[in-house]
Amino acid sequence: KDTKIALPVGTTLDRFIMRKQEDFPFATGELSQLLRDIALASKIVNREINRAGLMDIAGAFGSQNVQGEDQQKLDVIANIRFIRAFRNGGEVCTIISEEDEDIIQTGNPDGKYIVAMDPLDGSSNIDVNVSIGTIFSIYRRKTETGCNGDLTDCLQKGVEQVAAGYVIYGSSTMLVYTTGNGVNGFTYEPSLGEFFLSHPDIVTPKTGKVYSINEGGYNSFPQGIKDYVEYCKSNDYSARYIGSLVADFHRNLLKGGIYIYPPTAKAPNGKLRLMYEANSLAFIVEQAGGKATDGKNRIMEIEPTALHQRCPLVIGSSEMVDKVQELLLKSE
Ligand code: AHG
Ligand code: MN
Ligand code: MN
Ligand code: MN
Repeated sequence: KDTKIALPVGTTLDRFIMRKQEDFPFATGELSQLLRDIALASKIVNREINRAGLMDIAGAFGSQNVQGEDQQKLDVIANIRFIRAFRNGGEVCTIISEEDEDIIQTGNPDGKYIVAMDPLDGSSNIDVNVSIGTIFSIYRRKTETGCNGDLTDCLQKGVEQVAAGYVIYGSSTMLVYTTGNGVNGFTYEPSLGEFFLSHPDIVTPKTGKVYSINEGGYNSFPQGIKDYVEYCKSNDYSARYIGSLVADFHRNLLKGGIYIYPPTAKAPNGKLRLMYEANSLAFIVEQAGGKATDGKNRIMEIEPTALHQRCPLVIGSSEMVDKVQELLLKSE
């Protein structure tokens, strides 16, 4: 079969998944089913988010997560919804979630896949009606015994990802994902309850004039990062920083740009987590022709040693990521 038959804009996500699965002769459908489970959970979370202001589910939940962050009610709700979708779907044996300190066994020991997820990204923006997102990575289980809780299945390098994606709950809700053959974007039509292919074969521009970084931390940035910020200013770039990684990443992916979360005094290894923020978006950006490093090393080559480990993140248009690397090297 010609795998390059472009599916027309407007194809439903279900048809797209089915058509692409046919391109994998040995595919037995589990990954397709898992992608459908993610789409279903994102529709439910989308509805909760749109009602947050009316259902007294905005605001803080009253507990802290392993990150030391006050969990928002929607952080917890999104976490529960995605875990339930993976538990019921049967394809996932173990989950790593930003909102849970330990790995979650779904009760499907024979599930072929591991999911690492940030159920709700941009939590500080939930109550102020600014775009937020969900980020996920999918790995194949390596052990025979089926998720007996040892971490070999969970601490896999980003290059081992089978699929990765994000949902952005913005002016429209979109699902953007890759299974290693390019990046495709689907827009949700709430009145039909369907995702439709709206952004086929996303390719990110090699360069751009937008930089996303929290300049509040400028004084404690590494010198090379300070030099890059000055470089952007002297080249009349635009600063765009939403405080939701998914929203900044999505805009930069489509239009060209760079997002940086460098080491700061408050976050010596950066704030973003390797397993369910950096690696997931790194897979997507590389599939779209961009780059993702920690300033020096390719994100997807980093050997994970802890579920919630943080890493500095420089991600976006390839020539912009290269420029940061050049200035960091020069400043050493
Ligand atoms: P999360 O809400 O999942 O904890 O992630 C928030 C992240 C990311 O989405 C955003 O770009 C960054 O935190 C903002 O951090 P600062 O407020 O420190 O800039
Ligand atoms: Mn958080
Ligand atoms: Mn996040
Ligand atoms: Mn989060």
